[in-house]
Amino acid sequence: MDMNTNAAVPALSYSRRIEDLPGPAGHPFVGNALQLSGRQMHLRLTGWVREFGPMFRLNVFGNPMVIVSDATTVNNVLRERPEGFRRSGGLKTIMNDLNIGGVFTAEGETWRKQRKLVMAGLNAEVIRNFFPTMVVMTERMLERWKTALADGKPVDLRRDLKAMALDTIVGIAMGHDIDAVNDDGNPLQRNIDNMFQRLGQRTTASFHYWKYFKLPVDREAEQSSMEIEQAVTEFIDNTRARMKQQAQLQAKPGNMLEAMIAASDNPESDFTDEELVSNAILSVIGGEDTTANSIAWMLILLARNPAAAAALTAEVDAVLGEATLVRDWDMMKQFPYLEAAHSEAQRLRAVAPYIGMVSNADCVVGDTFIPRNTAVIVSTAGEGLDETQFPQHEQYRPERWIFEHRPPKEEDPSRKLFPFGGGARLCPGRFLALTEIKIVVSMIMRHFELEADADAPPAKQVLNFFMAPSSVPVRLKLRRPG
Ligand code: HEM
Repeated sequence: MDMNTNAAVPALSYSRRIEDLPGPAGHPFVGNALQLSGRQMHLRLTGWVREFGPMFRLNVFGNPMVIVSDATTVNNVLRERPEGFRRSGGLKTIMNDLNIGGVFTAEGETWRKQRKLVMAGLNAEVIRNFFPTMVVMTERMLERWKTALADGKPVDLRRDLKAMALDTIVGIAMGHDIDAVNDDGNPLQRNIDNMFQRLGQRTTASFHYWKYFKLPVDREAEQSSMEIEQAVTEFIDNTRARMKQQAQLQAKPGNMLEAMIAASDNPESDFTDEELVSNAILSVIGGEDTTANSIAWMLILLARNPAAAAALTAEVDAVLGEATLVRDWDMMKQFPYLEAAHSEAQRLRAVAPYIGMVSNADCVVGDTFIPRNTAVIVSTAGEGLDETQFPQHEQYRPERWIFEHRPPKEEDPSRKLFPFGGGARLCPGRFLALTEIKIVVSMIMRHFELEADADAPPAKQVLNFFMAPSSVPVRLKLRRPG
């Protein structure tokens, strides 16, 4: 992609301007703004991708917005960051207002610095050191479910998967075990739920009323944000004190916070405490619903597709042998079908379906001239919902991701979608998320059969900031004793 940042650069070459792109008709003054609000606006965008193709335009209060889903162009745009594109300003303001910033909303040199900090906290060694704790947390959830079923009580998958994801991310990001799985009234869980409620509502609202007046829910979210910051600051103080006593933790950090503190305590680093706090909060927010929703969608799709569930169960049984759940780190590499089941779930139900950006300079995207400061939204589903790329694309078929030999570039499905984004801002939590997904889903398939629950409300796709199922209509049935 060509970028034009100053007049000395040769003229950009393009064949279309934004006005030439197809797009839906809008209303006077507001354009398409009203159609772009609401908890299912991602589905409207996806519908427009079908109608108008891989690149189309919208108009939001007179400002153009370009939507891109062609995989090559999406990849190019993602890779042009941070220089070529910045994150959407609206999202940044909404997140920063709720005290959620850190690396996600940072740009330029500040981003580069914070990215280093977060990457130090989420590298493979840190995750590996944390792996035994994740196994214990998963086992705890298994025991809770077995007890519930033995008592004839249903398992609340939606609630428990969120609590499990929170336990994991607080464990790795703060070095603290809050056991939200067994604590219904956990204050951190309540505060994070409040934040997501506000984030979801504000990012899908057409009128930003909170800029002018605050409702009780807004004040409640501010209170939650303050309490989260207090909790995180306390975790950081405790960890710093522990690290002073145990010098070996500097060299071999057991969790993300220890790794970030070790990086920020390095005399050559210039990380501030504020950056440490904001990135620790961001990780907790970024790591909970993403992973929990991904597992929930996998279970929903598997329950509807017994053949896929059976194939996954067979793989899990073969890998685990007599073990009740994954205990050995080396087993993590032995779940190709589970990985495929996850990729296929992200293709059909991306939990972060679109990434919003703004161009930093005049440039060409695909074949279209994009002026500086234009909003460009890329679909993380990319070509994943394109019938020509994924025949019978509505069907959940993990087999699409299984190959005896690595396919050539143009046939490789992993190059056609971007569930974790791409380029230099690729999600730094993906390895942690995949580790948790493998431990939890393999445990579930080992011990339970998934039954589609016809009496439960259907799982609608809802944007609660991340895209969540409105319900998880899946019943767990114990497979085998013990
Ligand atoms: C299945 C789970 C997850 C999905 C689908 C997901 C998806 C994404 C996506 C699409 C982005 C935007 C990337 C881009 O702009 O190119 C992102 C960024 C990010 N994610 Fe994740 N994520 C997941 C789990 C996590 C976890 C567990 C963490 C926490 C530790 C995390 C932390 C972050 C951070 C800090 C960023 C910002 C990176 C930057 O701007 O440099 N994510 N994620």
